[in-house]
Formats: sequence, structure tokens, C-alpha cells
Amino acid sequence: MNAIDKVTATLPDAQEVLSVRHWDDRLFSFRVARPASFRFRSGEFVMIGLPGDPDPKTGKQKPILRAYSIASPFWDEELEFYSIKVPDGPLTSRLQEIAPGEHVIVKTKPTGTLVLDALLPGKRLWMISTGTGVAPFASLMREPETYEKFEQVILTQTCRLNSELAYGADLERRLMEDPLVGEEAAAKFTRYATTTRETSDRMGRITDLIASGKLVSDLGLRDFDPAEDRVMICGSMGLNKDLKTLLEARGLSEGANSKPGEYVVERAFVD
Ligand code: A2P
Repeated sequence: MNAIDKVTATLPDAQEVLSVRHWDDRLFSFRVARPASFRFRSGEFVMIGLPGDPDPKTGKQKPILRAYSIASPFWDEELEFYSIKVPDGPLTSRLQEIAPGEHVIVKTKPTGTLVLDALLPGKRLWMISTGTGVAPFASLMREPETYEKFEQVILTQTCRLNSELAYGADLERRLMEDPLVGEEAAAKFTRYATTTRETSDRMGRITDLIASGKLVSDLGLRDFDPAEDRVMICGSMGLNKDLKTLLEARGLSEGANSKPGEYVVERAFVD
């Protein structure tokens, strides 16, 4: 245990890191012990972090906290997080060094709009993401209620490079082996991954693929319909805005926890 971790471990919200996986030089995921009494809805986020540098005057270490979607479902005994590594980022430059046995701060006040309760009943659930925006969907795709509520579940993820899609590909593999939802997912779940700056089997921004009709035609479906399609969006500000425009033009309206609708949006946090 290093000196910083000795401090972190004593904090009331500290949780032990159980495993870490680096996907490439820009992305990693890690799992922590779940606080015993912690409850959340699949798709929600919490604040997590590490103690900051000591204040030169008081010596106090104010924590550096950022919003992270929980990438594991509500019933999992561990909490999973998926993160980008920002070289000069106040939190991720240090968080990327974290090792099993060390500790991170996990605040247990979950919140967020990417929850099933914020959507009206429908036939098809679309989960549209870029980069680390896939994290809340990693939770929802292993949530039994997702398959109770929808006949078809489609996860799209668009990244610049092929290597950035590795986590999503692994999620799909793990989903098929999941003892709780694997069988239903095999019948209902589809992953649609695209790249924009490197050659791959499927290329293009998801917005362009929706606008041209290629996304739905690739999947043998008709265009988005407010009677049947429900959409969750998690990406950059630009992507969220452009997708809202595309969906509103097709007659879908935005929902929230207090007023369910046909689509919901959250910004992918760590950037
Ligand atoms: P592009 O390479 O054409 O910019 P970033 O790494 O910048 O967060 O982007 C992640 C992915 O999201 C990239 O593939 C990027 O495509 C795509 N993207 C960024 N902005 C938008 C947008 N406004 N609409 C659709 N896709 C977007």
C-alpha cells in the first residue's frame, strides 16, 4: 500500500479495487467492492475519485471527484467503471495507476436519466453511445428488466479507432455468458459498432447512419417510430444535440424520471 492509498483507505467512502483491465493506452476499466447497503438503478451514475494533494496551509486533502456511470447491473456484487486516461487530467492521470488492493472513493448517491423508468413502454430499445458513453449501457444490457420490457435491444457504439471498441466487444461476449440474462440476450440483443477514423467492417458517425437510413436497413428495420422505438443516448454534447434533432424530427419526445418519454439523454462524463 503506497502513502496516498494509506490515506484513501481510511476515508468513510473508500472501496477496495478488486481488478483493473487496460484496454489500450487510452482506456481502462476497474471493479471495486460494492458497499453493503448501496442500492442504485441500472444506468445511473455516482461520483468517484481520489484524495487531492494536501492543502499547503491546512494539510487537508480535498477529494477530486468526477461523475462515473456504473457499468455493472444493480444486482452485481461488485461495481464496474470504465474510464478514459487523460494524461493531464486531475483525476484520471492518477486513477489509471490504480491497482488491486488499493482504494477509490465511491459516493453512494446514485442519480441519472438513463433508467428504464424514464421511458414509456415500447417494442425496441436503442442504446446509442460513443466512447466511454457505453458505460451505463454495460449496466442496462445485463439488467433483467430490460429484456422484460423490450422485444429487441440494440446497442450502438461509435469510436474513432478499432481498439476503442474492444471493451464493448468484451461486454457482448460476457453478456452471452451471463447466467441471469444470457439466454434472453442471445435472442434479443444486437451490438452495432462503427469507427470513424480507421477502416473497419462498419464505418461512419451514427447520426449519418440514422439520417441515411443505413442503420435501420442494416438491421432489417424501419425508421424510428414513436409508437415502437425507445432511445437512450450517451455521448458528447455534439452527438447528443444532433441525435435529439434527428429523433425529434421523427416524432420522438424527450423523457425524464418525473415524466417518461420516448428518448432520454445523458452526457458521457469523463472527457
Ligand atoms: P468523428 O471521428 O467523425 O469526430 P470523440 O473521440 O471526439 O469523443 O468522438 C467519439 C466518436 O463520436 C467519434 O467516432 C466521433 O466521430 C463521433 N462524434 C463526435 N461528435 C459527433 C456528433 N456530433 N455526431 C455524431 N458523432 C459524433
